[in-house]
Amino acid sequence: MKTLLVTGAGGYIGSVLTGMLLEAGYRVRALDRYFFGPTLQYLQPNPNLEVIKADVRDFDPGLLEGVWGVIDLAALSNDPAGELDPETTLAINHRGRARVARLAKERGARRYVLASSCSVYGFQEGLLDEASPTRPLTTYAEANLRAEASNLPLADESFCVTALRQATVYGLSPRMRFDLAINGMTLGLWKEGRIPLLRDGTQWRPFVHVRDTSRAFLAVLQAPKEKVNGQIFNVGSEAQNYQILPLAEEIAQALGKPFQFEWYGLPDHRSYRVSFAKIRDTLGYTPQFTPSDAAREIAQALEAGQVVPDDRTITLKWYKNLMEWQRILREVELDGRLL
Ligand SMILES: NC(=O)c1ccc[n+]([C@@H]2O[C@H](COP(=O)([O-])OP(=O)(O)OC[C@H]3O[C@@H](n4cnc5c(N)ncnc54)[C@H](O)[C@@H]3O)[C@@H](O)[C@H]2O)c1
Repeated sequence: MKTLLVTGAGGYIGSVLTGMLLEAGYRVRALDRYFFGPTLQYLQPNPNLEVIKADVRDFDPGLLEGVWGVIDLAALSNDPAGELDPETTLAINHRGRARVARLAKERGARRYVLASSCSVYGFQEGLLDEASPTRPLTTYAEANLRAEASNLPLADESFCVTALRQATVYGLSPRMRFDLAINGMTLGLWKEGRIPLLRDGTQWRPFVHVRDTSRAFLAVLQAPKEKVNGQIFNVGSEAQNYQILPLAEEIAQALGKPFQFEWYGLPDHRSYRVSFAKIRDTLGYTPQFTPSDAAREIAQALEAGQVVPDDRTITLKWYKNLMEWQRILREVELDGRLL
């Protein structure tokens, strides 16, 4: 049985992927700060799952002993959260993950997969593939590019390195995120009868279901290393390159609700359409789920009270809360005034 270290295992993607990895017969060491709570509880107890509360910036390298492969998801995980404290974003998303890859190689792991993002393409016309120029517009996107640049060159005969540039993810997860476009649209329609739409609705964005992006990590782990070593793959499908306005209409149709929406924000400066030919042709990978499938699944879970749209489900809001509590705790400690 192969052992995997999964960083960020308690996150939106990680908490779905960890279940799929266990089902596929891997032993998983799930390393995370668990900023969003005990999201892997639904998988416990399981003798093949080890839950480890640690930080990618300083975890004990001994945790890599006996590890065959690493999936590196840990990050401050979207553009606005990345701007809260750009230096911390670079420290975690770039240098933290560079540390994970370097230590993994030193400790004899054979595979390493980096969770990167299609946001590295920024604003561009045309269909972008892995060889297209990158235009990172935010610290988050820049940190992904830097992590790719420091980790891919570690690839050699014995250490197989792959970067997955994921489309924007959607769907139900034990660590739910309503700050992702399709999930947020579904929540808006369910709760207020209106979809919140980021101006001006013409921007293009590729999407992929959380179970499908998780399948891509599995596909890379199971592929012959000649096919994936040193490679970057976009993860998604051309059929799910959407403009935001028609996408919202599709979500309303899927839920059988009138198409009502309200604008928010300044016009989005990010817009990109992506080619997914490489992962399809190399690994035979195609996504199985659609935004409509996810919208129905999420609406049912909301209806049944299985998912609660609290602050924790909005990444930026939650990290702001954590920073505020940290500040208050420091103050309390300095003043010696504990309740
Ligand atoms: N969700 C998307 O649409 C999407 C798209 C493209 C790429 N990605 C990338 O995929 C990865 C996972 O994203 P997600 O949506 O699951 O985000 P998430 O915020 O739900 O998960 C990230 C996890 O990393 C953990 N973490 C943060 N800092 C850490 C640290 N210093 N040490 C250990 N753990 C730490 C958090 O506690 C969290 O559980 C990220 O690298 C993200 O950038 C996500």
